[in-house]
Amino acid sequence: MSRTMLFLLLTFMLILPGLATARWIDDIVKMDVEATGPVNFSHYNHLEALGKKCTLCHNSVFNIVQSKNPEFSMDEMRKGKSCGACHNGNKAFAVDDDCSSCHPTRDITFNTEVGKTMFPHSAHTEMYSCGDCHTGLFTPDVQKSTRYSMAQMNNGESCGACHDGDTAFSVKADCTSCHPTRDITFKVDDGDAMFPHSVHTEMYSCGDCHSGVFTPDVQKSTRYSMEQMNEGESCGACHDGDTAFSVEEACDSCHDM
Ligand code: HEC
Ligand code: HEC
Ligand code: HEC
Ligand code: HEC
Ligand code: HEC
Ligand code: HEC
Ligand code: HEC
Ligand code: HEC
Ligand code: HEC
Repeated sequence: MSRTMLFLLLTFMLILPGLATARWIDDIVKMDVEATGPVNFSHYNHLEALGKKCTLCHNSVFNIVQSKNPEFSMDEMRKGKSCGACHNGNKAFAVDDDCSSCHPTRDITFNTEVGKTMFPHSAHTEMYSCGDCHTGLFTPDVQKSTRYSMAQMNNGESCGACHDGDTAFSVKADCTSCHPTRDITFKVDDGDAMFPHSVHTEMYSCGDCHSGVFTPDVQKSTRYSMEQMNEGESCGACHDGDTAFSVEEACDSCHDM
């Protein structure tokens, strides 16, 4: 037998059976769960952890025909049904150990007229169960989500259901906890100009400047000359020597010069 033939034979004997079990079936089975978004079950990871024994699950725990499987609740899983047959803290991690290993969450970004607003899922899932927010308050699908105004939140809807100054910090006061700001540097040849956001957000609401005087996106911002500011545009809307120190004096209050 030639070396090539031997090599090919060995390949068939050793490698292909492994590939075959893996390629017969699709790795991921998507299980739709209305309350949390889909759970993606990985065949490959399980076959690796358990050995290639289909009978561990089929058809004792799960029927191969998906429509023949009843829908189980987490309580039934805690009692050993469905995934809970193994995910009991003994054969594999328990269903109560870490919800997000089966129900992954990611941080959500809302685009608003005062910039990108973050909802940190993980900060909340440490304190609440998925069911406290889904599907009563929020649909777990950003494509189908309802948009809310701050006025609605002030009335207890959306984030305002908890962020009322009692259960959690208030939507009426702590704007920057959800709408973070950073100090802005304007490039100027004679010396860069600094805009300290925080000094201003202590005195004004976001809406006093956005989007009327300034676009909350430095990529799209309009550039102004000092001449325009002297005429009351941009910083000059307030820095007129009346509301705040004037753009015509103390150049170094704003410029690094
Ligand atoms: C650890 C448990 C487990 C093992 C082991 C397992 N499966 Fe599955 N299988 C599942 C689950 C869970 C589903 C989805 C059931 C549902 O959606 O209700 C499924 C669904 C299926 C489906 C139907 C979905 C599809 O993608 O067409 C087939 C076919 C299947 N398994 C084949 C196999 C074969 C073949 C093996 C062995 C190589 C195997 N399974 C091993 C848990 C397992
Ligand atoms: C081992 C994987 C796994 C873990 C861990 C897990 N789940 Fe589930 N969960 C599932 C699967 C699979 C379904 C869908 C079952 C079905 O449809 O038969 C489900 C269904 C649900 C449902 C809808 C059914 C119900 O009970 O109301 C909720 C809500 C839920 N999970 C929340 C949670 C929470 C909260 C945790 C953590 C305490 C958690 N899950 C941990 C796999 C898991
Ligand atoms: C026959 C036993 C068995 C059943 C049934 C089972 N698992 Fe597992 N699962 C395991 C073992 C063993 C591991 C690896 C050990 C560990 O992580 O604790 C594992 C690991 C996992 C992991 C981590 C690896 C990965 O794929 O990311 C997830 C997630 C998971 N299982 C989800 C599920 C879900 C969802 C179900 C139900 C649809 C389920 N399992 C049913 C035995 C099982
Ligand atoms: C404090 C409330 C809260 C809790 C608790 C919570 N979520 Fe969410 N979830 C949200 C919000 C807000 C959104 C965004 C909804 C929107 O755009 O309208 C979201 C969206 C989602 C989405 C859709 C994400 C996307 O990319 O489309 C999934 C999936 C999800 N959540 C799963 C979960 C799971 C699983 C848990 C439990 C482990 C959980 N959530 C706990 C508030 C919560
Ligand atoms: C708990 C977090 C949170 C706090 C605190 C908060 N917001 Fe919001 N805000 C959001 C989220 C999330 C959205 C986007 C909601 C959506 O699209 O459904 C939003 C949207 C907005 C919008 C666009 C919608 C509208 O009402 O015009 C403005 C403007 C806004 N916020 C300003 C503010 C101001 C000013 C404050 C402080 C008085 C504030 N926000 C406090 C989370 C928060
Ligand atoms: C079910 C109640 C609940 C809902 C609904 C809720 N939160 Fe929270 N959130 C909390 C609690 C409780 C805290 C922590 C207590 C505190 O800081 O006052 C918190 C903390 C936060 C934090 C600070 C997290 C950190 O890392 O310190 C942000 C940001 C936040 N929430 C944004 C939002 C946004 C945006 C929404 C709406 C999309 C929202 N939350 C909806 C209860 C909730
Ligand atoms: C006194 C006026 C003023 C107030 C009040 C103000 N901003 Fe701004 N903001 C600015 C200026 C100036 C810029 C830079 C705009 C430009 O480049 O044209 C800016 C830019 C931004 C940007 C874009 C930053 C970047 O990195 O692209 C965001 C987001 C933003 N502001 C959010 C807020 C939020 C949220 C509030 C309320 C908590 C707020 N701003 C209050 C003046 C203000
Ligand atoms: C309230 C803050 C502030 C004060 C005070 C101020 N500037 Fe400016 N200046 C800025 C900002 C912000 C820009 C950049 C504006 C932009 O790019 O949209 C700028 C731009 C400039 C420019 C480039 C644009 C142009 O007009 O040629 C020059 C030069 C300049 N400043 C000089 C001065 C001098 C000289 C003084 C004092 C007489 C002064 N500035 C006072 C904030 C200030
Ligand atoms: C909505 C009105 C308003 C606008 C617009 C505004 N400011 Fe101010 N700013 C104030 C007020 C009020 C003060 C505090 C009073 C004072 O110092 O005269 C202040 C203070 C400052 C300070 C001093 C901060 C400190 O540490 O004491 C700087 C620097 C500054 N502004 C820069 C800017 C620049 C740069 C712009 C334009 C990009 C701008 N401001 C636009 C109202 C405004």
